[in-house]
Amino acid sequence: MPESPYLLIDPGRVRANYRALSSVLSLRSDRPTRVRYAVKASPVDELITLLAAENAEFDVASLGEIHQCLSLGVSPASLCYGNPIKKAADIARANALGVRRYAFDTEDDLVRVAEHAPGSEVECRFLSSAPASRTPFGTKFGCAPAEAVRLLARARDLGLTVAGPYFHVGSQQLDPEAWRIGIRQAGEITEALADKGIAVRAVNIGGGLPISYADTAPELDVFAAVIADAATRFLPAATALVVEPGRALVGDAGTIHAEVVGVRVAPDGRRWVYLDIGRYNGMAETENEYIAYRFLTDRDGDPVDEAVVAGPTCDGDDVLYQRTRVLLPTTLRAGDSIRIPHTGAYTASYSSVSFNGFPPLTVHVSGAERE
Ligand SMILES: Cc1ncc(COP(=O)(O)O)c(C=O)c1O
Repeated sequence: MPESPYLLIDPGRVRANYRALSSVLSLRSDRPTRVRYAVKASPVDELITLLAAENAEFDVASLGEIHQCLSLGVSPASLCYGNPIKKAADIARANALGVRRYAFDTEDDLVRVAEHAPGSEVECRFLSSAPASRTPFGTKFGCAPAEAVRLLARARDLGLTVAGPYFHVGSQQLDPEAWRIGIRQAGEITEALADKGIAVRAVNIGGGLPISYADTAPELDVFAAVIADAATRFLPAATALVVEPGRALVGDAGTIHAEVVGVRVAPDGRRWVYLDIGRYNGMAETENEYIAYRFLTDRDGDPVDEAVVAGPTCDGDDVLYQRTRVLLPTTLRAGDSIRIPHTGAYTASYSSVSFNGFPPLTVHVSGAERE
């Protein structure tokens, strides 16, 4: 058995998630749909190879992710350099490596793409008015919808190929109506571009599809129904949909195996449970207690009581939950094993190199997968 803590990934589950998402979207919406995996969620070689074999596209955020995909034999034609924040030199290198699809949200970045990746295809990310998700982007990305119209027209004038508008409703978005709002806004942009003689090829409806953690997320089919209905109402029939999931493909395919390091009652009477997994070696998404993971122990069934859950480092912020109500067996002791299901997304890829001397979370891919 690998040394604790580690993340165990089931690649068969990732394949099944990919197939379920592709088929529900193309069945529900009567138009071409493409699934583009956001590599950042779990940049694991085996998963990239597996998804490439399924004909997935890949959203890459940096030269590092581009190199990784290419080194695994992924065609540069299936990559989209989707990070709107990029240096001119990185665009030039990506272009030299054959990447011909880019997202932008500012005029500066658009001009850099036109200069260093001339003739490539571009998507403009706009800030949709969708409600906040569990791990929201705030206003870090996306221009105003009217600006997207102006910038995509500018893209055409700069000799680029216009793909279309792009929005992301925020990660772990639990409200299906968020996509209706985004697609309606994308439809308005598409119409304004048509008035300028520009036909939108595809609308990128981003990632954000949720999975169940301590709280249950609505079923995928509920989201697909809203997406398909909104596309029918607001987009021309020939416009393709691109969906860019990370969490929904890999989240429920991973389980973290960890261990209790100690249990203590603090002077204020609260029980603290310290694990060998914390904020810096995999549980970054507990920041602000945004994502409420479930904990499974071999003592489940024993009486439970509230606990503050903390990580192993000597850092005051390495506390996973102190406001969220976490119930753990009162019998829990140092050395007990803990499993944290649905931790396949945004865990290992976020873990620090060696904060406090703790190594990054190790990843194991289960070999027991079946077609
Ligand atoms: C540009 C972009 N696309 C897609 C995703 C994937 O989002 P999710 O994992 O919520 O599906 C992200 C996540 O941060 C992103 O930044």
